[in-house]
Amino acid sequence: MIETDLIWHNGEFVAWEDAKVHVLTHGLHYGTGVFEGIRCYETARGPAIFRHLDHLDRLERSAKLYYMELPYTVEQLRVATHELILRNGLNSCYIRPIAYRGYGHMGLNPLEAPVEVSIAVWPWGNYLGDEGTRDGIRAKVSSWERISSRSLIPQAKASGQYLNSVLAKIESVKAGYDEAILLDERGLVAECSGENLFTVRDGVIATPSQSAGILDGINRRSVIQIARDLGYTVLERDVTRSELYLADEVFLTGTAAELVPVREIDDHGVGAGEPGEVTRVLQRAFLDALNGRSERYLEWLDLVVAPAVGGQAVPERASA
Ligand SMILES: Cc1ncc(COP(=O)(O)O)c(C=O)c1O
Repeated sequence: MIETDLIWHNGEFVAWEDAKVHVLTHGLHYGTGVFEGIRCYETARGPAIFRHLDHLDRLERSAKLYYMELPYTVEQLRVATHELILRNGLNSCYIRPIAYRGYGHMGLNPLEAPVEVSIAVWPWGNYLGDEGTRDGIRAKVSSWERISSRSLIPQAKASGQYLNSVLAKIESVKAGYDEAILLDERGLVAECSGENLFTVRDGVIATPSQSAGILDGINRRSVIQIARDLGYTVLERDVTRSELYLADEVFLTGTAAELVPVREIDDHGVGAGEPGEVTRVLQRAFLDALNGRSERYLEWLDLVVAPAVGGQAVPERASA
């Protein structure tokens, strides 16, 4: 990890090495935290954060689902993030806001423990590697089932829930693959350990729907919109395991990984065993949107600007 100078911690800018928590932090013991993964891109107009408000809205929703009231508004977090990026002198970076139950109260009822909020930013290359982005990755269907709403809240991005992803990721990496594909409680495809999944067959794009216990990925929604704008049919529907093997193309979307082709699943080559035409078209269009090269999707970018006297103008919320 590339360290930066400052981290925003409970309303203050502190040095990277001083951003510490107590060992009895509630979230450390019980996973009582919610977080986001966001990216800021270097664009011709300056650093810009992709769908920033959508991510912060999801953070607030995740917190509510775990009975946490954020001590800062979405707008305060947005402004703090801008200032943090500028103070660290970054043009592009990964952004990790986290809200968690802090120190002061142990036991399973977290309601007495304080809610603390931190934001860290650091330069972070492609999560699944440049080679994976170019040539496609190898994935394995996991023996671990994706969490379901019978026991947790799949739509919340909560720290403790990620033990499920961690187990699946470890299993896939130890078996020599790049990523894990998790099935849901019905045995249908849900998503990967940190990405949503799409298949392409005969030119039609399909992706598991919310009922498969997926995280409602912001990049998933963006790519669905881009694909439809380009004239493709995109179906949100049940996807079976065997469809993965029979697909012409499979690709993944997520903030950390962006849009990554899958070239092999369970040792079956996907299509021709290399990224297909639809994946390439969407990858190009999506990267253009992320990097501010597409006029059509400029509204998705939150330009990083210094706080003006009297506050900042609030951009339009992205629809979809
Ligand atoms: C489990 C899981 N699914 C899907 C995604 C993709 O979501 P997004 O596109 O909002 O980054 C992520 C990443 O945040 C994730 O952790």
